[in-house]
Amino acid sequence: MDLMHDPALPAHEDPAPGTGTLPPRAWYARSDAARLPLNGAWRFRLSPTATTHDTSFADPGHDTSGWDEIAVPGHWVLQGGGRHGAPAYTNTPYPFPVDPPRVPDGNPTGDHLRTFDLPGGWPAAPLPADGPADGETLLRFDGVDSHARVWLNGTELGEFKGSRLPHEFAVGTLLRPAGNVLAVRVHQWSSGSYLEDQDQWWLPGIFRDVTLLHRPAGAVRDFFVHASYDHVAGTGTLRVDCAPGGRVTLPELGVDIATGESVTLPAEPWTAELPRLYAAELATAGERIPLRVGFRTVAVEDGVLRVNGRRILLRGVNRHEFHPEHGRAVDEETMRADVLLMKRHNVNAVRTSHYPPHPAFLDLCDELGLWVVDECDLETHGFGALGWRGNPVADERWTPALLDRAARMVERDKNHPSVIMWSLGNECGSGAGLTAMADWIRGRDPGRLLHYEGDPTSRDTDVYSRMYADHDEVRRIGERTEDSLEEPALDARRRAQPFVLCEYAHAMGNGPGGLADYQRLFETYERCQGGFVWEWIDHGIAHPELGFAYGGDFGEELHDGAFVCDGLVFPDRTPSPGLTEFGHVVQPVRIEPGDSPGQAVVTNLHDFAGLDHLAFSWSYAVDGAETEGGPAPVPPLAPGESAKVELPAPGNPPAGEAQWTVTARLAADTAWAPAGHVVAHGQWSAAPRPPLARPAGAAPVRDDALIRLGPAAFDARTGEPRTLAGVPVEGLRLEVWRAPTDNDHGAGWLPETELARRWRKAGLHRMRHRTDAVEAADGGLTVRTRVAPAATDLGLAAEFRWTADGDRVALTVSVTPEGDWRVPLPRLGIRLTLPAAYGAVRWYGGGPGEAYPDTGTAALLGRWSASVDELQTPYVRPQENGARARVRWAELTGAGAGAGLRVEGEPEFALTARRWTTAELDAATHRPDLVPGDRVHVTLDHDRHGIGSASCGPGVLPQYELAARPAAFTFVFSAA
Ligand code: GAL
Repeated sequence: MDLMHDPALPAHEDPAPGTGTLPPRAWYARSDAARLPLNGAWRFRLSPTATTHDTSFADPGHDTSGWDEIAVPGHWVLQGGGRHGAPAYTNTPYPFPVDPPRVPDGNPTGDHLRTFDLPGGWPAAPLPADGPADGETLLRFDGVDSHARVWLNGTELGEFKGSRLPHEFAVGTLLRPAGNVLAVRVHQWSSGSYLEDQDQWWLPGIFRDVTLLHRPAGAVRDFFVHASYDHVAGTGTLRVDCAPGGRVTLPELGVDIATGESVTLPAEPWTAELPRLYAAELATAGERIPLRVGFRTVAVEDGVLRVNGRRILLRGVNRHEFHPEHGRAVDEETMRADVLLMKRHNVNAVRTSHYPPHPAFLDLCDELGLWVVDECDLETHGFGALGWRGNPVADERWTPALLDRAARMVERDKNHPSVIMWSLGNECGSGAGLTAMADWIRGRDPGRLLHYEGDPTSRDTDVYSRMYADHDEVRRIGERTEDSLEEPALDARRRAQPFVLCEYAHAMGNGPGGLADYQRLFETYERCQGGFVWEWIDHGIAHPELGFAYGGDFGEELHDGAFVCDGLVFPDRTPSPGLTEFGHVVQPVRIEPGDSPGQAVVTNLHDFAGLDHLAFSWSYAVDGAETEGGPAPVPPLAPGESAKVELPAPGNPPAGEAQWTVTARLAADTAWAPAGHVVAHGQWSAAPRPPLARPAGAAPVRDDALIRLGPAAFDARTGEPRTLAGVPVEGLRLEVWRAPTDNDHGAGWLPETELARRWRKAGLHRMRHRTDAVEAADGGLTVRTRVAPAATDLGLAAEFRWTADGDRVALTVSVTPEGDWRVPLPRLGIRLTLPAAYGAVRWYGGGPGEAYPDTGTAALLGRWSASVDELQTPYVRPQENGARARVRWAELTGAGAGAGLRVEGEPEFALTARRWTTAELDAATHRPDLVPGDRVHVTLDHDRHGIGSASCGPGVLPQYELAARPAAFTFVFSAA
């Protein structure tokens, strides 16, 4: 008896991986053998338990007239307008009692059925699997979540688990020319669910392609392309193992060899930067398969991860497969959109968190150039809460399932040059099952490295990997002075390994902050080879009332809320400011000022490419407006080289603050972006900002209930301005509150990260304002206030000093904290409201996008404009957003608004303008909660607390904290 197979359990609860499937093999998109996609409309019936219906539905002739229809690939919970249950989101908890391998009676079960005819020309009548001559037909499932049982024409073919892995059956003699009935019963929960506890929606169904594949006699059963590169000799070595044997031709290099034979010859290497692929063909007696060969060698040498002999720096993202309407059923167009967006933001690597992606995605990575860490479909995180009791990776009953998963990944994806590392899975703790997987993978594919983060000893891996290590830990790892492991041998082994952050910079909501600080560490320490931002996309599900839904929106009993929306792109793939910032932080060319402002230092940060694909230009701008520009003469630079470039002296620039900007653009169209696409830029000061002229001289004049001062009028009792330069304003106050970001909320499991809770406890969201004095004298108006929350003696004394001339009125705010402040301030500035008509903003400052103290490196100084609506960043869960930073002046205007309001600041300030209040933004849970009111609410911030990434990771670094301390800042208002 098979020890690992428990006959007492139904197949879906048996830990064994399945029965009846064929050994896994390489996936390829094209061949001359016939194939028939079986995607499309299927009949569908949902049952509440695994045993509601018997299996007679699989019999030909079964009446399915009362059934629904469903699209395959697809998830039933996302189809049928709520008739088929709902998605559910948990991060780590299993949404069912943990009693492996058993699952609950309540086990949504989808019966899927379709009929099909063989197309004309489909190879003649099928013969038995082991029959002579004419070959065989296979039925392939590329992904079914989580257990499938399959029948063809009433005969059961078998059953399988391993949701994001391929499974094939030989259909033998079962096929008919017409009227074939394919029936698939899918259980949402199975023993496999214990191995698939990834942080994502639980989405059952046949969510990847179903295909019928003819295998002619003599067709390729499996093949393995070995294509290495010798960077010393400049040669590639090619060998293709294949069963049965055949020939390999690669015309461009004149290669014509037998399979199993190897050839070495001069060749260009494949890298993510220069993804050189050679068209080749594998031909056996029964089949021709076009190949795309990329020569490359991956190795760890002297503690450094190298490809083709060179250290690489991973500028990576974690990519889940997600589409806001279709869940993990992602079409090729969407996959391509992902890769193009990544390439256009200087991303060079992808970790396929946390399962092998649709196989076509890897073809795109080969073609367009991305380093890939291909991760196995394995996570048992929910056992962590139980002290890892019962963890499948430490229980040998599950080892066959683990090995099956490893093999299905490696065999399917082994021919992609883009894949440089295999990852055993994510967050499974440690156990012998992982070692068994690692041993098998090493035996099968010694040409790639092994990754796994969850076992701190790194015993099974070639790289040391961590997630969310803070900057200081990364520095210590870079210096190889990290804390020791108990076992000296393991410690020595790990200390010699290169380091990657398989996850860092949690991109939830506004943020991540601190990216540039990480990048400096990666560029400083050879051992720190970059990492993968968590994560690529927000998994918000399109929802008619909520905009995008997240955990809890479907009435889940257990859920983890908005933690599923933590990507660099919004659910609809609109880049969030985090992606813009990342693209700038990881730009492959560094452009900075040299010995003088008129000199640029350009450094080629590519690992392999020169700069000949880029065209450089310079511009000189005064007060944000370009006065001159032209091409910049950057010499050819090899990777790692720098050059000083003298910029032409500006002709006769007007006086004022000036900047140099040097920009690198694609010189010609590439496969991933058109000519002109900006790859990198640098900007620095050429002439400092002249001091702001402060208006003075006007005397305050009492006029009934008003005090008039130059172009401003104030309420004589409260000292609040009523008009500034003719513009009606209300509620001008000191402001310290912001709608907490996800990163301000921190991580529920680490109370010390919950800054928003501390802010609310201190009462910063309910500050009271008291006016102590309104003094019209000494050529101005002075209003003394105290701003403080109830129930504490903490407070901020704020003095508003107004002076004016005939046209301009200046406000200097001086703030003195009182009491023992133990929390940083969210912001420090003023707020005011304007009539709704002030809907347009122009500013000279950072732009075009939002920027916060630790997220703002991508913003360029310039003159920008946007409507108030365009200034908002639509985070899926509303929160502080949209601030434009380093603003020198801004003008708020609008059709029908009368005079515009101009604000100049000294020092420069940050600006937000919204159609709702901060309290409304704070209270909103989904985008549609934000409803425009009849005012424009403006904040002018002198300073802000940084963003950090404490939603899962380090908080704000000390240099970006905003402590309560004395401050003074000035705004000058005039008509725009
Ligand atoms: C990691 C995990 C990811 C995700 C992330 C937080 O621990 O590997 O899957 O949950 O944290 O968003």
